[in-house]
Amino acid sequence: MFLMSRRRHLAELRQAPAAVLPSLLLCDFGNLEREIRRLESAGVRALHLDVMDGQFVPNLTYGMPIVEACRRVTDLPLDVHLMIKEPQNYVKQFCDAGADIITIHAEAVDSPIDVLSQIRELDCGAGLAINPGTTIESIKNSLSLCDLVLVMSVNAGFGGQSFQPIALNKLRELRKLVSKETLLEVDGGVNKKTIRDCQTAGAQLLVVGSAIFREPNYSDAVQQLTELT
Ligand code: DX5
Ligand code: ZN
Repeated sequence: MFLMSRRRHLAELRQAPAAVLPSLLLCDFGNLEREIRRLESAGVRALHLDVMDGQFVPNLTYGMPIVEACRRVTDLPLDVHLMIKEPQNYVKQFCDAGADIITIHAEAVDSPIDVLSQIRELDCGAGLAINPGTTIESIKNSLSLCDLVLVMSVNAGFGGQSFQPIALNKLRELRKLVSKETLLEVDGGVNKKTIRDCQTAGAQLLVVGSAIFREPNYSDAVQQLTELT
């Protein structure tokens, strides 16, 4: 149902040199539509949605209904970051809810290849995330099936953590390994101090939570971050 827009969304994200993606973890869910309108006015190019299950990570957020609610109120690409065990059991539902990209964690599955293929068969963009302690070597065999690789610069689970510079080395290494078509994304502790290094290291999608949502004016925050890329 969303096939054409998904392909367009992925193509648009590939074209841009860098994009600041707000992570909605810290937004006001009592006013979700208003929050999304504020982000659209700020000129963001996609929304990053953090799904946590209280098992793969020690925090619990939201699932398909929020993805579906976002889909109803915006045409922006939805970049869904699954921090859940056994994601293979849920990817179809996230796809049906309107996700454009579904990212699973390498640490959460036995075989990333199988789940990435499953996501691609659903005509969603397939993403693979690695926590700071996970090596590039361990995901090398899966890279050809990735539309996106997400390098976590904090341990997945909570917003507001400090940036871990090991992510920069991984981004540099990945940039050499993956095709031009593969999006590189960084997530965790990205702010005015760290964003430029992330982009220089090769990240095109820069996920930002607290450095947008803890600021009084989202447009100013997004603009200042974008100017630094
Ligand atoms: C952490 C999440 C991030 C987080 C980013 O597990 O994946 O998307 O919300 O928040 P900040 O920018 O505050 O680190
Ligand atoms: Zn995230």
